Amino acid sequence: MTQDEQKRAVAAAAIQHVPTGCIVGVGTGSTANYFIDELAKIKHKIEGAVASSEASAQRLKSHNIEVHDLNNVSDLPVYVDGADEITENLHMVKGGGGALTREKIVAAVARKFICITDQSKLVNVLGNFPLPIEVIPMARSYIAREIVLLGGQPALRHGFTTDNGNIILDVHGLQIMNPVELETTLNQITGVVTNGLFACRGANTLLLGTDEGVREMTI
Ligand code: 5RP
Repeated sequence: MTQDEQKRAVAAAAIQHVPTGCIVGVGTGSTANYFIDELAKIKHKIEGAVASSEASAQRLKSHNIEVHDLNNVSDLPVYVDGADEITENLHMVKGGGGALTREKIVAAVARKFICITDQSKLVNVLGNFPLPIEVIPMARSYIAREIVLLGGQPALRHGFTTDNGNIILDVHGLQIMNPVELETTLNQITGVVTNGLFACRGANTLLLGTDEGVREMTI
């Protein structure tokens, strides 16, 4: 299967994890887009969705799926999203699409995080994909210096503003041996809004697209 076929296959498989009558948490990116298209086929069976980005909200609305404000939703059984990297412990790097903050918020509310990826995203150690960090613009240089002290090489994502009006530093050169510790450390740097490590709250289930079909891993 091509990478794109794997993404479509895991998006279709994720529908089995959506309980009837619920509001679904929906991620951002090309794999999440395929999931939204699959969700449209069962839209009569769900109450609607919460989106992790303006882009996903627009795509949901284009399918006439109701998009709810997360503040009005107290129960979110499932959140379905892609990842840039994921380990067998289901720790992830996310934020390649720049939606990491809203993704982390929706994931925090959800009871289950179902990660959907093609097999290229499964890695032994996180960090080859540059780690995105959303920062308050006036803190950019300070945070960059702090990241250098931690051993990373930050690069400003040029011409990009998040849905929250902030900027992104992509951190190169990290070999993330302890993702929970690094996620916590980065969160303590003043001016950091969110970092793209999803380890303190990782995924519950990975649906991985492979040449042999969809492999399910749960912890
Ligand atoms: C967006 C994300 C995406 O989940 C991640 O970038 C994967 O995207 P894709 O499904 O297009 O490979 O974190 O902020």
